Amino acid sequence: MNQVLVIGSGGREHALAWRLSKSNTVAQTFVAPGNAGTALEPNIDNVILDINDFQAVIQFCQIQNIDLVIVGPEQPLVAGMVDALQAVGINCFGPTAAAAQLEGSKAFAKAFLARHNIPTAAYGEFSDVDSAKAYLQDKNFPIVIKADGLAAGKGVIIADDLAHAEATIDDMLEANTFGDAGSRIIIEEFLKGEEASYIVMADGSHFVSMATSQDHKARDNGDLGPNTGGMGAYSPAPIVTEEVEQRVINEIIKPTLLGMQSDGIPFTGFLYAGLMIDNHGEVKVLEFNVRFGDPETQPIMVRLQSNLDQLCLAAIDGALDKVQIAWDDRYALGVVMAEAGYPLGNQKGHVIRGLNDVPEGVKVFHAGSANQGDETLTAGGRVLCVCALDTDLKVAQQKAYAGVKSIHWGSEYYRTDIGFKALK
Ligand code: AMP
Ligand code: GLY
Repeated sequence: MNQVLVIGSGGREHALAWRLSKSNTVAQTFVAPGNAGTALEPNIDNVILDINDFQAVIQFCQIQNIDLVIVGPEQPLVAGMVDALQAVGINCFGPTAAAAQLEGSKAFAKAFLARHNIPTAAYGEFSDVDSAKAYLQDKNFPIVIKADGLAAGKGVIIADDLAHAEATIDDMLEANTFGDAGSRIIIEEFLKGEEASYIVMADGSHFVSMATSQDHKARDNGDLGPNTGGMGAYSPAPIVTEEVEQRVINEIIKPTLLGMQSDGIPFTGFLYAGLMIDNHGEVKVLEFNVRFGDPETQPIMVRLQSNLDQLCLAAIDGALDKVQIAWDDRYALGVVMAEAGYPLGNQKGHVIRGLNDVPEGVKVFHAGSANQGDETLTAGGRVLCVCALDTDLKVAQQKAYAGVKSIHWGSEYYRTDIGFKALK
């Protein structure tokens, strides 16, 4: 029986820990630091640990005889948590710091894609203002400008005209709006189409696909408003037809894993390809993430039937070619409830009511929440992700929204159209 530790505190980590806690080969599930939702789960324990302090994490793992660590967020991966834990013999699922560059540096990712002929938007890489502006001269608009480093999802600007593009270049390269993350930028062609995510678990050479899913990155209904971390997701995603899936596997996933291997930095972990699919079914990489998506994880974990700990341990052993993965056939749909003002503003501290009143079968994953005495308070940003399952996506949607409507804190905000692209 395994003792497992999940690193992180978001909805993704609540969903991963919840799934692990249901595995019949897991004895105990810890989350560091976790959130109010993981604290409320019967078989999950939160651990107060500074996840940037790898020595503290190692010490905890050694004292508790942890058999498996799963790292949720990108920052500790990019900072080398897997390297540090594996160096002392702790099984830690995720990419090494070198492999995590696929997310940690957009310049690294774009050069990698170009070198291995993997389809992506045409681009240029710049660290000085004059050459960046010169590059714009014969380009069409809109054009996309990205800070190189991690910018918590805020480092991508879609500039509608030359003036906006030049101002963004000044902002990133001269005014250092994104600090070091923006000392190098990517300018790339704007791609049209529909976005989807394709997520696999990789062991360096083999992979197993996660169920398909689609996120809703814009804050407001109809994909309007500012870009966010994601306002809801569902799985499976009909846009990823079998034909599209085969293309993604053959043109993107396999060449990426092979490319990383041949570059000497084999990729182990969740590999998330953010994709743009055009109306001819052509697929291009928008970005890589080196971790599971949030909120995609929530509906996907609701559907996963295999033991997640066994999958991760097989991946660490390079044995993913020997595992089977089983899914619930039904649709899962998750609606994010955020504090009004998200992604800006920082409202918090409101008492969340109705968490126990959601209809049966609805699963509420927490993100920005905190327990205080007997009450659960909002802690800002994305607060909850309310998930439901059904054979019919429309009914899964209705069930999830029935859950959403039983929860209140006064300033809750959510999209009312999660899943609309698959239902239209
Ligand atoms: P990224 O963090 O690179 O995925 O970018 C965040 C969001 O910006 C994506 O989810 C897309 O909605 C949008 N985006 C990024 N790159 C492009 C592109 N080349 N063309 C169109 N939209 C893009
Ligand atoms: N849902 C998008 C992401 O996790 O980056």
